[in-house]
Amino acid sequence: MGSGFETIRLLGDGVELIDQRLLPGRLEYIHTRDWRELVQAIKGMAIRGAPALGVAAAFALVLAAREGAAGVSGSRAAGPEGGAGGGPAPAEPSARAAVEAAVREAAQAVRASRPTARNLFWAVERMLRAAEAFAEPSAAGLVRRLEAEAQAVLEEDVAGNRRIGEFGRDLISDGDGVLTHCNAGALATGGYGTALGVIRAAFEQGKRFRVFVDETRPLLQGARLTAWELVQEGIPAILITDNMAAHFMAQGAIDLAVVGADRIAANGDTANKIGTYGVAVLAREHGIPFYVAAPFSTVDLSLKSGREIVIEERGPEEVTTVAGCQVAPTGVLVHNPAFDVTPARYISAIITDRGLVRPPLGENLKRLAQAG
Ligand code: MRU
Repeated sequence: MGSGFETIRLLGDGVELIDQRLLPGRLEYIHTRDWRELVQAIKGMAIRGAPALGVAAAFALVLAAREGAAGVSGSRAAGPEGGAGGGPAPAEPSARAAVEAAVREAAQAVRASRPTARNLFWAVERMLRAAEAFAEPSAAGLVRRLEAEAQAVLEEDVAGNRRIGEFGRDLISDGDGVLTHCNAGALATGGYGTALGVIRAAFEQGKRFRVFVDETRPLLQGARLTAWELVQEGIPAILITDNMAAHFMAQGAIDLAVVGADRIAANGDTANKIGTYGVAVLAREHGIPFYVAAPFSTVDLSLKSGREIVIEERGPEEVTTVAGCQVAPTGVLVHNPAFDVTPARYISAIITDRGLVRPPLGENLKRLAQAG
């Protein structure tokens, strides 16, 4: 059982991605050949979710590489490799340099698009390393190498999510109530999902349980995206507003919480969608296990603790409006941090693609990083 749709894919003539702003009303795709449009799609939330942002970042660099190669070939009668025409072949290193320059420019713009999701930066670094390690002078060869690397980012993410599902599925039992926050599903990743991957895998085992879906203000990723994914697959879902979680925990309806992550510091402190921290504190109060599901590409060992994680601040209109309808007076002051940090002490385990990490999270993350 998969998700039945592709969140984002690399084509010969561009990149195609679901425009997640339109869900659940309309399933429409954006098709672009321009890395700048892809960066706009990232900033504007057409694609979102840390691992999906990693894939989009890698694809943006491929589009830039193609543009760099085409720019050079467009200015030469001989084509991107040169030498096919009558005169002497143009110096090949400059064609490669044009590709590298385009990739570097796009990398800069991608890095400046959304600051919190670790996977986006991880993917850019991985693509730049692949470009650097490509020893041949061929510009077209470099483009092909980057295409392969970006496709590997996507495919490894999906495979990793399936492993996350396998490592995490036994945490869910028949009859459980499972709370999730935001969308950590197929839409937020290359496919299958992290937190929703665990839920999918448990459902595939034949277990039957209910998923409580926090609507997740301000942008309603829970209501619009997670509920949509679950309804599509027939996994029983109950949509609640964010302020109802405590009530259902107190009633004994929720047995565990599982969420995704945008960045995990070396000590296990975890940044995820705003409101996650509150869910974790509530879970602790009610004696409910609280799990984070994320691939290792979300772990940032360069940060000692969550205090060092940069939290994205987004525009006030996301808070003053709901689905385009104004719900607050013009002129009111607004804060809109997109993420919060859950201290490691509230996290029962991190379900990674390399295995289950139990407390002490810092020590065990480090051990797993060294093993991998
Ligand atoms: O602002 P978003 O929609 O990009 O935030 C997404 C989340 O917080 C997800 O929970 C996180 O990226 C994990 S996705 C597998």
